[in-house]
Amino acid sequence: PVNLKGRSFLTLKDFSSDEIKHLLWVSGDLKHRIKHEKQYLPLLQGKSIAMIFEKRSTRTRISTETGFSLLGGHPFFLTSQDIHLGVNESSTDTARVLSGLSDIVLARVYSHTTLEELVKDASIPIINGLSDLYHPIQILADFLTLQEHYGSLSGLTVSWIGDGNNVLHSFMMTAAKLGVHLRVATPKGYDPDSSIIQEAQRLSKQHGTQFLLTSDPVEAARGSNVLVTDTWVSMGQEEEKKQRIKDFLGYQITMQTGSVAKPDWTFLHCLPRKQEEVDDQVFYSPRSLVFPEAENRKWTIMVMVRALGQYPKGC
Ligand code: CP
Ligand code: NVA
Repeated sequence: PVNLKGRSFLTLKDFSSDEIKHLLWVSGDLKHRIKHEKQYLPLLQGKSIAMIFEKRSTRTRISTETGFSLLGGHPFFLTSQDIHLGVNESSTDTARVLSGLSDIVLARVYSHTTLEELVKDASIPIINGLSDLYHPIQILADFLTLQEHYGSLSGLTVSWIGDGNNVLHSFMMTAAKLGVHLRVATPKGYDPDSSIIQEAQRLSKQHGTQFLLTSDPVEAARGSNVLVTDTWVSMGQEEEKKQRIKDFLGYQITMQTGSVAKPDWTFLHCLPRKQEEVDDQVFYSPRSLVFPEAENRKWTIMVMVRALGQYPKGC
């Protein structure tokens, strides 16, 4: 039995295969009931979620607000300009106060440490809405999208071509647990975090999946089902933009990149997207799953019902 009541969600590193599969199942089930069967499920009636955003957001904010409201809950959105945290109130005090005033917190922060500090002092679950290290709720949406498209996940090969960033880190903490092979190409100097590499290697051994790290985009794409990338300039890195665009030359995903992939290859991107990392031909092609992927942010964020112990009955 999977028990997620009261659990925080900072990184998928902390979640087992069974737990991640359960979260995908819950997302798919809620999507089916609400979107297709038009059921009204007020599972979060009387609950509120504090949403703290240190950075901009379209998808994370809107999917959380609409998802939480659809389940009968009340979301409230706070930017750094609205809340004392980080200016004149400590994370300890903020965490304790929010624990009394709301039921769960979703926070998008620059430093992952801010989330760890909140978890330390809060008595309610804290969800990572993107940090410098991880983007776990994005990766749930990505795998739900692939599960819907391919029917199942085990045995698929996903190739990341681009920056060794937060979104990649979350793929690395998840793929092996779902039986998915991972091929990663990052330019020299933009590799993923070394301790996350070690953990990904350990997980791939444990689960019998392949994990390849290279600086050659073509090698990464070879034989793959899914090509994935993200912006080359993450939020907070705007000053490095010029240098990064130079250093990532040759990493743009095009139909040429796909020519060495499997015939049924598809494309994912967490968005927002720039043309640098993927051209229009791929991005707007039928292979591109980016818009269902964005919609699935809403159905996957609803897994917070599990942290609040509301669904399915008996869990
Ligand atoms: N993919 C994603 O997290 O998008 P937003 O920055 O718009 O939330
Ligand atoms: N890597 C990007 C993801 C945005 C959703 C960033 O951190 O800005």
